[in-house]
Amino acid sequence: MFRMLLCLWIVAVSASDLDRSADDALIEELQSLMGQEQWWPKGGNAKLPRKTWERWKQCQQPGFPSLLRDNRTRTSVRAAHVKVMEWLVRHHRDHPRRKQLADSIGQRLVHLGLVTHPYQWAEVLNEQLSSFPVLDPHTDPIPWPGVAKALQWLETNYTLLLSAFHGAAKHHRFREHPEGLHLTGLWETAYISRERCNRKSYPEVCHLLEVIDEIWPKVDEAEAMEAVLEARFARLHPGTAVVEHTADTNQRIKIHCGIENPSNVTMFIGHAQVCWQPGRCYLVDDSYAHHISSEDSDQPRTILELKVAHPDLVWADYLDEEDGTLVPKRSGGRSEL
Ligand SMILES: *[C@@H]1O[C@H](CO)[C@@H](O)[C@H](O)[C@H]1NC(C)=O
Ligand SMILES: *[C@@H]1O[C@H](CO)[C@@H](O)[C@H](O)[C@H]1NC(C)=O
Ligand SMILES: *[C@@H]1O[C@H](CO)[C@@H](O)[C@H](O)[C@H]1NC(C)=O
Repeated sequence: MFRMLLCLWIVAVSASDLDRSADDALIEELQSLMGQEQWWPKGGNAKLPRKTWERWKQCQQPGFPSLLRDNRTRTSVRAAHVKVMEWLVRHHRDHPRRKQLADSIGQRLVHLGLVTHPYQWAEVLNEQLSSFPVLDPHTDPIPWPGVAKALQWLETNYTLLLSAFHGAAKHHRFREHPEGLHLTGLWETAYISRERCNRKSYPEVCHLLEVIDEIWPKVDEAEAMEAVLEARFARLHPGTAVVEHTADTNQRIKIHCGIENPSNVTMFIGHAQVCWQPGRCYLVDDSYAHHISSEDSDQPRTILELKVAHPDLVWADYLDEEDGTLVPKRSGGRSEL
């Protein structure tokens, strides 16, 4: 019953040829922006090799969408779009037509049948997994009992999380976010669990993560995969702009729990938004484009962020996170999760 509901939720993808002249106009406009890049105090530069445009031109060939059958090709064509998107949103962030251009790139992926939602521009997109930008357990039904329970346990144990955060701040465990996604300001993380949980510094949080791991939807004992893949605090300081971005895959999603957010700093994700409240937790699929900005006058915002396996992987296929090819079920590939 449950499984049926989830399957119905997945929208069938239909593809059609691109409109040649409209697409030429899009490519031309994007290319006209080359050489006019905006540079930022922080983060790397998004590069746009010639190869990427060649891949883009190929997509115009009549009948091209029908060639997009195998997952390796689908992944690589999505990747060519993600590259252009990353270059556009980083280096032309303040361009008056940035939003329209980003929408056109997203719609191009929809036309090609590579995504169902123009904002979900992740490379390795597992199309069997149910999809939502944000689920708030206080307003949305959570269709997996183990996930609902995990969110509830995190919320009822808020004081424990808060004191773990105070410990991390007091002992200077925060480091600047390494991925170069913030253009200005300061975005920091303090890891609780990476390869393994830091029991010495966070004994109680580690215990909580263990019980969450146990109740998270699992395939079966033999194929048990870890549910909680990573846990960290993330603190966004005043005057920080995190550029629009997506995760590389929707096979790992996030739980965000508000620790402190006195200025109501808000994340925009897909068509939704999250204004983290202390002691409240949200399920976030960060394969949807998202961005955050805080004002100079805002106070820091801190959340607990868990990276978790998508609960639908209990029944769905699993894709290789490098090239998007199908990992045979009983090969042990899932243990890599
Ligand atoms: C491609 O991936 C989808 C999941 O996104 C899966 O359902 C399908 O079987 C895969 N196709 C092939 C040919 O491996
Ligand atoms: C805290 O988490 C535990 C699981 O570790 C759970 O049993 C308990 O109900 C939660 N809430 C409180 C208030 O302890
Ligand atoms: C932040 O949002 C909460 C909940 O909506 C509200 O009660 C509070 O007044 C807001 N705070 C500020 C500073 O806007």
